[in-house]
Amino acid sequence: MCGIFAYFGPKDNALEIVIKGLKKLEYRGYDSWGVALKVANDFVIHKELGKIGDFSFADIAKITQSGAVQSKINTSKFSDRFKISIGHSRWATHGGVTEYNAHPQWSHDQEIVLCHNGIFENYLEIKKKLIDKGYTFRSETDTEVLAHLIADYLKNFDFETATKKALAEMTGRYAVIVLFKNEDKIIAARRGSPLIVGKGGVSNEYFIASDIPAFVEYTNKVQYLDDNQMVIIDQFGARFEDMITKLPIEKRVVEIIWRYEEADKGDFPHFMIKEIMEQKETLYRAINQNENILSQVAEAIKKARGAFFVGCGTAGKVCMTAEYIFSKIAKRHINVLFGSEFKFHEHFLTDQSLLLAISQSGETADTLEAIEIIQKKGGKVVSIVNNEASTMARISDMMIPIKAGPEKAVASTKATTSQIAICILLAYALINRLHDGKQILIETASQINDMLNPRYEEHIQQVAEFLKNFESLYIIGRGLNYPMALEGAIKLQEVTYIHAQGFAGGELKHGPIALISKNTPCIVLVANDESKNEILSNAIEVKARGGYIIGISPENAEVFDYWIKVPDNSNTSPIINIIPIQILAYQLALLRQNNPDMPRNLAKSVTVK
Ligand code: M6R
Repeated sequence: MCGIFAYFGPKDNALEIVIKGLKKLEYRGYDSWGVALKVANDFVIHKELGKIGDFSFADIAKITQSGAVQSKINTSKFSDRFKISIGHSRWATHGGVTEYNAHPQWSHDQEIVLCHNGIFENYLEIKKKLIDKGYTFRSETDTEVLAHLIADYLKNFDFETATKKALAEMTGRYAVIVLFKNEDKIIAARRGSPLIVGKGGVSNEYFIASDIPAFVEYTNKVQYLDDNQMVIIDQFGARFEDMITKLPIEKRVVEIIWRYEEADKGDFPHFMIKEIMEQKETLYRAINQNENILSQVAEAIKKARGAFFVGCGTAGKVCMTAEYIFSKIAKRHINVLFGSEFKFHEHFLTDQSLLLAISQSGETADTLEAIEIIQKKGGKVVSIVNNEASTMARISDMMIPIKAGPEKAVASTKATTSQIAICILLAYALINRLHDGKQILIETASQINDMLNPRYEEHIQQVAEFLKNFESLYIIGRGLNYPMALEGAIKLQEVTYIHAQGFAGGELKHGPIALISKNTPCIVLVANDESKNEILSNAIEVKARGGYIIGISPENAEVFDYWIKVPDNSNTSPIINIIPIQILAYQLALLRQNNPDMPRNLAKSVTVK
């Protein structure tokens, strides 16, 4: 994970640009952060623990004037032609959350300073060789190894050659941005983690970032680095190179259309609740699809010898929901796998296989790995993504945008319901009844619009008050609502830190029912379909053991101790039933004094395996 960002250009406020950009990348990791500013032939480096959100911009002056934490530099020398700065927002992989482990990392005398997103898998082996050569390490990170390795090569080679030689030795997935104190030059390279170059408005101005929002306020002209590509930026402009063939690459400049203001909280206290409420509109946007693409994807599913729906976390639960939707509506079998498990099914793949990747970010490393595997086998890929500029969108044969708009809160909400809507459309497209699918979803969108009002939130607030001190709770569902029981548990775990667990209602009696005792809360997801009577029976079984039953259901039932009413729409019940749990999770997070937008230990975009 982690967000990396660099500025190269004439602006004096390079450091401020980088810190502001990093704030936009905090969704990728927020346990610590750091920046480096090149000043003549030296660096000012500053690191902090915690979120950049807590940093006051008034302190920028202090960083440059005081000579920063680790560097004693006279910044009056700051008159360089090019202002060069890099920064990093961290999600710890190697080494705890400490100032030493925060990036930028550097070689001994800070001649090489770099930021890194990803994992160097062979770092221990290289670290050992460097230690044998006399290098000492300050941090526990894999990143510091690269800094020393480049410095080692610098003894015999120039900066560019040294960096290329060092990168050629590193294995794993990464994006790195490297600076050298004696040259006005940035070298950035990508293998597996995203990196995008923004071409600034003035001549010789460049931004390099893990994601576009970091620099979109300055430019909409972007150049995407693909895997095994690097860019070298200096006074002559930006040169792109293939790291394997070593040949120069011509990079197309793409002008992106980005609704920048959409990513603000507006009048809402948190992104999470804003995004939950946006579901009044996002479903309409998801439905408004290019019908030709939907039909082409449906045709590809029909023809495929094995259609695999792949996603991680919440997106993985959407894939599980798709399995039930396809069975019920289209009577068609699909395979469902989590991204991280896909490689273990590699032997089932042929050039006739089809992978449908579901992802909000389009950057999840485990899902990208699944795509790489199927592409190696010659199979085709369809991505169902929110970020249309993402790696997944760009490397897929076909792409269905879910059009939910930027989702900033770590807990996925509006993207989830839009992804389910796309799966429903595809299932109807498979049986040539796309129009019916759209109608059902339009009706659902209007029902959600009616449901999401302050009275509804207050009603859920009451049960949140009851639940706030419990340390475990369970969610059960059957059929279409079984994956949503699992998804509801993820939502609650992520932001409330309560031990929440989802089960298929019928599975309880095979073991988990032993967990129920007096007052154990159990949320029961009910739909007005063939699963209704059985899930209510499961609720009765829980109640008989003392459980406290919270029913999320179109109709009340005697077994419920607390009833949260939802609109009645049997084929879209996963969309409808998950929304009250999203609200409940949000309210519980607040009651338990957690930050719902940036929960502990998590990041929005999971770009490491
Ligand atoms: O960006 P993606 O949809 O590929 O992300 C996959 C998961 O990391 C993501 O759904 C995660 O589980 C969410 N934080 C859940 O709310």
